[in-house]
Amino acid sequence: MPVVRRDVALDALNTFRLPARAAQLVVIDTLSGLQALLQNECWQAAPRRLVLGGGSNLVFTGDFSGLVVKVGLRGRQLVGEDEQCWRVAAAAGENWHDFVRWTLAQGWPGLENLSLIPGTVGAAPVQNIGAYGLEVAERIDSLTVVDLQDGRLHRLLPADCAFGYRDSLFKRQPGRWLIASVCFRLPRSWQPRLDYAELAREVQAVAGMAPTALQVSEAVIRIRRRKLPDPAEIGNAGSFFKNPVVDAAAFARLAARWPGLPHYPQPDGRVKLAAGWLIEQCGWKGRNLGPVGCFERQALVLVNRGGATGQDVVRAANLIRAEVRARFGIELEAEAVFV
Ligand code: EPU
Repeated sequence: MPVVRRDVALDALNTFRLPARAAQLVVIDTLSGLQALLQNECWQAAPRRLVLGGGSNLVFTGDFSGLVVKVGLRGRQLVGEDEQCWRVAAAAGENWHDFVRWTLAQGWPGLENLSLIPGTVGAAPVQNIGAYGLEVAERIDSLTVVDLQDGRLHRLLPADCAFGYRDSLFKRQPGRWLIASVCFRLPRSWQPRLDYAELAREVQAVAGMAPTALQVSEAVIRIRRRKLPDPAEIGNAGSFFKNPVVDAAAFARLAARWPGLPHYPQPDGRVKLAAGWLIEQCGWKGRNLGPVGCFERQALVLVNRGGATGQDVVRAANLIRAEVRARFGIELEAEAVFV
C-alpha cells in the first residue's frame, strides 16, 4: 500500500504555482499499488478525489479537502510494428515532452507538432492536447485505464473516448477514470503536418520543403519559446480559454463588424475564432489585475506575476470573460480546469 501523506502543499504540483494544500496525497507508481489504494479505507472515506498528472492545466481555487492521487507510473517501449506503423506505449506518469523527444530520437515520427507541451502522457488524452494542426487523439492506438468505481482495468480505443476539441470522456467524467498508459500509432509513411502557416514558414526557413520530424519538432519548440511563457519561470496553465466555435450566421455578423477577425472554418460548417485575438481587442494583452497578468506575447495565457492565489485567477478570468461578452457577445469557456 503506497504511503498516504497528510496536509501536503500543492504549490509545486501545479504549473500556475497557486498556493493550496491537499488533506491527503498519495503517489501511485505501480498498478498493484493503485489496486491496494482502491481497497483501502482512506480511498473509500475520502470526500473527494483528484487524479493529478503534471498539474499544467489546473487552477486550485482553494485547499483540496480530499485525496489527491498523483500518477507516477513510468515506462515506455515499442510494443509492435508492421508495414504501416510503430506502436509505442508509455505509462501515464512519463513527462510528455521527454516522451515526444524520445520517440523522435528512435526514428518514430508523428508527435513532433506536440513538442514542448507541458504535462504528462496520461494527461494528454484528458484534454486531447493539440497544437499546430495536430490533436493527440489522431495518434492514439489505445489506452489502458482503470475504472475508479470498481478498480477494473479496461483497454479503450479512440472511438470509445469521445474525443473533441480539448475534450474527452475523461474530461467529462472527472474522477471516474485513471489513465494508466497510452499506446500511440506512429506512421511509417510520415508526412510533415504543416497546415499551420507560422510553422510552415519556420520549418521551410531551415529545412526547405522536405523537413525531418526532428526539424519540425525544433521549429515548434522555437515558436513556443517565442510566444508562450515557460512554466518553470512564470507560473501559467497554457491557453486559459478555449477558442470559441460559433455558427455561420453568428460568424457573418461578427465578420461584418470586425474585418480582421481571425477565423478557422470547421468541417461541420461552424467557425472557430481566436480567443487570444478577442481578448487582445479588449485591451487585455500585457495588462494585470493584481498579481494575475494577461501574457504580453499571447493574450490567451494568464500568468502568475508572483504571489497570485486561485481566487485572483478567477477574478481576472471573470473580468476578461465579461469584457469579451460585452464587446463581442461571445461567451469564453475556460480550458483550464478549476479545482
Ligand atoms: N492572436 C492575437 N492576439 C493574441 C494571441 C493570438 O491576435 O494575443 C491571434 C493570432 O495572431 C492568430 C490567432 O489569434 O491569428 C491564433 O493564435 P495562435 O496561433 O497563437 O494560437 P491560439 O489559437 O491562440 C491555439 C491553442 C494552443 C496552441 C496554438 C497553436 C487553444 C485553446 N490553444 O492557441 O494550445 O499551442 O493554437 O496550435 O486551442 C494550450 O492549449 O494550452 C495551447 C497553448
